[in-house]
Amino acid sequence: MRVECERLVHRGLGLGHFQGQVVFLFGALPGEEVTARVTETHRRHLFATVTEVVRASPDRVTPRCPYFGECGGCQLQHASYPLQLRSKWEILIDALARRGISWSGPPDVVESREQWHYRWRGEFHICREEPGLGFTRRGSYSVVGVMNCPIHHPAINSVLGPLGAAAATGAVGAKTLHLTVGQAGSEVLLQSRPDQALGRRLVAEVGKQAPARLTDEATELEYRGRGFRVFADSFIQVNQGSVDRLYATVVEWLREHLPGARLVDAYGGSGWLSLRLAEEGARVTVIEQSPVSARLSQLHSEMHRPGALEVLCGEVEEILPTLGTPEIVVVDPPRSGLAPAVTGWLAMAGPKRLVYLSCEVSALGRDLEALCRIGPYRLERLRVVDMFPQTYHFETVVLLSRE
Ligand SMILES: C[S@@+](CC[C@H](N)C(=O)[O-])C[C@H]1O[C@@H](n2cnc3c(N)ncnc32)[C@H](O)[C@@H]1O
Repeated sequence: MRVECERLVHRGLGLGHFQGQVVFLFGALPGEEVTARVTETHRRHLFATVTEVVRASPDRVTPRCPYFGECGGCQLQHASYPLQLRSKWEILIDALARRGISWSGPPDVVESREQWHYRWRGEFHICREEPGLGFTRRGSYSVVGVMNCPIHHPAINSVLGPLGAAAATGAVGAKTLHLTVGQAGSEVLLQSRPDQALGRRLVAEVGKQAPARLTDEATELEYRGRGFRVFADSFIQVNQGSVDRLYATVVEWLREHLPGARLVDAYGGSGWLSLRLAEEGARVTVIEQSPVSARLSQLHSEMHRPGALEVLCGEVEEILPTLGTPEIVVVDPPRSGLAPAVTGWLAMAGPKRLVYLSCEVSALGRDLEALCRIGPYRLERLRVVDMFPQTYHFETVVLLSRE
């Protein structure tokens, strides 16, 4: 088919129309005319992949990675970075409009400090293709071997070859290797999943000749001059260079209300943001489901600001309603967004100020519909913080106040 791409939509796909049907196009940019091959047919829409660009957008750039299009990791390497940022904002505004929430303010988009090599953590599938590690293919469950990934940190790329070669022999019970960079880039923490025995063997076998120090125990990252302990299964923001851009937004929007305020940091991870908010004078309670991350929150508080955090390990949906109404709540849920019990409690009895950090725009739209359109909150501020260049993912920060 020959089709014109009208705009970019969720998942980095171009939207077009062909013979009255909607077409979602992989590899097309707004304003481009392309020919495309249909890959999936549904009753009301089609999926297609661009085979030739007939009229190119001025925002088209050459993808840096040879696996682009084959690997399922990146969707936007063919788009200039300014276009990626513009599109992420438009996709956010559209997702909210679909939920009956209109926002007419100018775009507020914070770019990533680095556009490449920004990921300090990644999970690689063990595979037959060289170098023995890779990512799932776009639109498939099979794995493409990746020798070098330009969005991952150089320390991760430096160990892919030796780890892949060693993992290819006798990787019984392990399907993936989870890699995290630590110690300012000099160390790689690895964990094999689901069986962790391979990880231990790789540290022993590959450790001596690997370009970065390998460990399967724990590592450390620095944020604002302070050390934070990291385990493979404790949460970190993968784009370490831009962590402060994300957290600074929350601090900037809440700063004048923080001194002395009772604040709940729900989905608090290992306490990085919680401590930042405590430094500004808030009395912070952290709720975190993962026992490992909750323990780290407590440890980080003892190390850097003894007594600053009260840490409660458990589910937000269980704990938040038992705490009375604090002055401020910060929520930073996983991709699935807030559980109905959480949106319900917030709408009925929530605080005057609520900050929502979201990594999944469709869940955010659903939750804001409950909080703002049905519930009593008003949308005060909205910002995209791009923590995931070259991909369709991004973070949104929202400030809500209760009417
Ligand atoms: C997106 S991370 C945010 C972490 C933290 N705000 C940060 O920036 O480091 C989400 C966190 O919520 C935790 N989590 C997921 N579901 C939860 C739930 N139902 N109740 C409490 N914590 C949960 C996860 O373990 C993870 O640490």
